[in-house]
Amino acid sequence: MARRKLVAGNWKMNGSRAALAELDAIAAAAKSAKGVDVAMAVPFTLIAPAAERVPGLAIGAEDVHDRDSGAHTGCVSAGMVKEAGASFTIVGHSERRADQGETSQDAWAKAAAAHRSGLHVILCCGETEAERNAGRAERVVQAQIEKSVPDNADGSWFTLAYEPRWAIGTGRTPTVEDIASIHAIARAKLRMLIGDAADEVRILYGGSVTGENAATLLAVENVDGALVGGASLTAEKFVPIIEAAA
Ligand code: G3H
Repeated sequence: MARRKLVAGNWKMNGSRAALAELDAIAAAAKSAKGVDVAMAVPFTLIAPAAERVPGLAIGAEDVHDRDSGAHTGCVSAGMVKEAGASFTIVGHSERRADQGETSQDAWAKAAAAHRSGLHVILCCGETEAERNAGRAERVVQAQIEKSVPDNADGSWFTLAYEPRWAIGTGRTPTVEDIASIHAIARAKLRMLIGDAADEVRILYGGSVTGENAATLLAVENVDGALVGGASLTAEKFVPIIEAAA
């Protein structure tokens, strides 16, 4: 079935109020690209000013806590980011798995919390280089999906992102054959878990997506968009990716 493409940026721990000026041209490109959804995840502190500056662009968080409230010093709930103006959140990003020791179970709980608060969820999965070299990429991704995708997931609020860790910020990407293979496996695993609703769930590819390679990567079967890190920081680099998806 035809799924509308989604190009989502992720500023990670980058940006400033001054950098929000980049969103003006990104929002304009998003408005022109009629067949594509565009979204930008920014640090917590920039959610409110970003949402106020570009109300037409979907602004999101890069993470949320799995509880709605409570004694969790330094943490931010899904309801809080929603109130600040976020319409979605990323969960289970590999940098949080690596830096904060988050597991697929944590990602599951965060996805459920985000859904409770009415946020769209982009849930990340992906293997390490060692796992790929050991021929375990498919099994790792299948296991991550099995443990982290909520039973009630559907395309109206849930998106999966396949991001091989070794491709993030390295300028390296898998072959189109490898991407097609993992995305097909991910779709099949989703179908096992959530049935026909799997056909409506978008599966993004992430990892060193640029304006130069976006058209090739977005043409791969079952690639329904991109999750973009480094190239989302400036309009100059991000707009060509939006245009490639249109
Ligand atoms: O969330 C985005 C991904 O980690 C990809 O980052 O485009 O800098 O490789 P990258």
